[in-house]
Amino acid sequence: MSKSAPSFTCTACGASSRKWAGRCDACGAWNSIIEEAPLSSGPKPLGPKGKQVPLTDLATEEAPPPRASSGMAELDLVLGGGLVPASAILVGGDPGIGKSTLLLQAAASFAKSGVKCVYISGEEASAQVRMRAQRLGLTDAPVMLGTETSLRDILTTLDAERPGLAIIDSIQTMWLDTVEAAPGSVSQVRAAAHELVNFAKRRGVAIIIVGHVTKEGQIAGPRVVEHMVDTVLYFEGERGHQFRILRAVKNRFGASDEIGVFEMTGQGLSEVTNPSALFLSTRDAPAPGSAVFAGIEGTRPVLTEIQALVAPSPLGTPRRTVVGLDSGRLSTILAVLEARVGIPFTGLDVFLNVAGGMRVTEPAADLAVAAALLSAREDVAIPRDMVLFGEISLSGALRPVSQTENRLKEAAKLGFTQAALPKGSKPGAQTGMKLREMADLTAFTGEMFGAG
Ligand code: TYD
Ligand code: MG
Repeated sequence: MSKSAPSFTCTACGASSRKWAGRCDACGAWNSIIEEAPLSSGPKPLGPKGKQVPLTDLATEEAPPPRASSGMAELDLVLGGGLVPASAILVGGDPGIGKSTLLLQAAASFAKSGVKCVYISGEEASAQVRMRAQRLGLTDAPVMLGTETSLRDILTTLDAERPGLAIIDSIQTMWLDTVEAAPGSVSQVRAAAHELVNFAKRRGVAIIIVGHVTKEGQIAGPRVVEHMVDTVLYFEGERGHQFRILRAVKNRFGASDEIGVFEMTGQGLSEVTNPSALFLSTRDAPAPGSAVFAGIEGTRPVLTEIQALVAPSPLGTPRRTVVGLDSGRLSTILAVLEARVGIPFTGLDVFLNVAGGMRVTEPAADLAVAAALLSAREDVAIPRDMVLFGEISLSGALRPVSQTENRLKEAAKLGFTQAALPKGSKPGAQTGMKLREMADLTAFTGEMFGAG
């Protein structure tokens, strides 16, 4: 291997390449590739044989790892039932979304329930962190606070203190003197995370690493370390909304796709134990263009309102604006409505939005999206007490989705009395809901809007 090999690195995902490109082939990020100094020496030849590794079978008497509860139910849920000792957790998110707030609250909560907890800030002075703690009403929590960016000193400190949990805020500010690169560069972030994860495993300390999501590509994003850690959580929210969602995208000790819902208030984050009620709370009189989707996030049913606005377009190419949903999915549904049901949206601007700042990724939302679009176009409101779910295939058929029973139960709990769903769904135990099962989009359109 040549010594001058890959010297360009993607700051979003860490992939390396030999030449610069505007777009990373590995993760698709734009403008994220920067030049990094190549390592001075390539890998050495393997040399003499190593020792033989003992191999075992898969049977085990070991009990599952004991988990420490944070005292914050939403956080415990996303972690898969609490904090696993000696695990490494990455919490990623946009700057200013509330990561430091969340983790300071978590630290205080863990500390109060008896976990020795160290919080290291590389971004803020300790006075700043203490002021935030005061605002959050946490000054009496036995959290040990440090402000430092040298990872060598931090690891020495952690080694001496041996806490149960250490929080490192943020990985982009940490630096190792063994790596000749600026803090925040791909090589520093990767090396620092590697040291931290190793330390967690070796010394039995759970470590939470904060990582800022970066758009400009000047500093490395959290994706660079995603593969090293046990658990990856993303803290998300729409600007201008107070709701924040903590989403597990990887979890070696629990279900991924699990979400925890929080609300940002003047006194920090408060937990939202019934997200459905929250996402629907702003609904008033029935209005055309609104449909309630009975979704599943992880193991939990969540009801969200999908809103559409359809208006004649003054433009040659009508607008398609989507918030909280995949825009490709909207195009597909519009195409199916036109080709299979005969309802065109040509010459019409389409705006689609998930209320409350929620993001919906399930294909099961298709039917609710189609319903909102049709309702807006035909100017006919969908009954206020109806939920919808089902996947739409390219042929226009409605396909049953998983966890029908859970979706219906949640809807019934929130006072909904009827559901539109695909034929062949397994509704399970009767919830007392009126079920309107339909085979395809044409049948749905005919029954709901008398058109098609
Ligand atoms: P912060 O936790 O500093 O974000 P991050 O660490 O992800 O960069 O959160 C900063 C934002 O949160 C800031 O805009 C102010 C807001 N905030 C509140 O609304 N209420 C609060 O109690 C606190 C502490 C912050
Ligand atoms: Mg912060």
